[in-house]
Amino acid sequence: MNDCISHPTSTCRLGVTVTPRWPGFDFEGLEHEVPRAWHPAGIGPTAFLEALSAMAPVVEGFFIEDARRLLPRIAKEAPRAEGDAFLRQEAAHASMHAAFNRLLMRWGVPVESVADSVLRWLAVVDWTSSDLRSAVAMAGEHFLGEIGNAILSRPELLEGVDPRIARLFRWHGYEEVEHKAVLFDAFHAARGQGLYTYAVRIAGLWIAVVLLALALPSVSYRILASAGAAQDLHAWRGLIRFVFGRGGMLRGRWRAVAAYHRLDFHPWRYLDNRRFLAELRDTIVDPAWEVGAR
Ligand SMILES: [Fe+2]
Ligand SMILES: [Fe+2]
Repeated sequence: MNDCISHPTSTCRLGVTVTPRWPGFDFEGLEHEVPRAWHPAGIGPTAFLEALSAMAPVVEGFFIEDARRLLPRIAKEAPRAEGDAFLRQEAAHASMHAAFNRLLMRWGVPVESVADSVLRWLAVVDWTSSDLRSAVAMAGEHFLGEIGNAILSRPELLEGVDPRIARLFRWHGYEEVEHKAVLFDAFHAARGQGLYTYAVRIAGLWIAVVLLALALPSVSYRILASAGAAQDLHAWRGLIRFVFGRGGMLRGRWRAVAAYHRLDFHPWRYLDNRRFLAELRDTIVDPAWEVGAR
């Protein structure tokens, strides 16, 4: 990639190419083939993963809107091309999760009202400056990069899940790691470094932490309620173990929040996990999914 040589981004400098893919997953009829609690550890982990999916189309839309606003402010070709690939990856995530969410709706999950609530929560940042909004999106990408890393580094999290469902989360996790630095680089390319950028970045982090701390339990609760398990202590114990227990999805992630406060924080400097992308390319993503430049 010539652009990468003349104006390298942090991602392409590491030999990682943000690659738009369109896997075309189909979940039609799966409700007759997999149990309602499709995670082997029960309805708790199932509800948590479904909460991530139910929120995905709205959250991805938030990232896409932000990247669209940032990209015209970037003069160099390589970061703009990478930003464009980012947009296409996030659009594919939104679409594939929407397909999975239609399966959830057939199970009675109130996906549309969950999406409305997430939109209302995100509206909290609508009245703020566009920089603060970008900072919330950037922090969101940091968390998704962490979830992606957990999925890639701890395959046991999805062990025993029907492969047609597991591959959705694995592919999404893979691409979140692949593009984890794109919004971060785009924001700094547009706004520069300095105290103002740092202060906005940290404010965005804490808004994102509060939004997630409200949204994830509340959406999980509504999904458990739709499955008749809202009062089921066993389900909640399973969910908490899946998220915070040994080897859990968000176990020890306070370190990611702490590291984000460093003045010299950068997603790849914080965690150079590109080896997963090389090692897992053949098992998680299919070259046939790649889409050429439009
Ligand atoms: Fe995504
Ligand atoms: Fe992302």
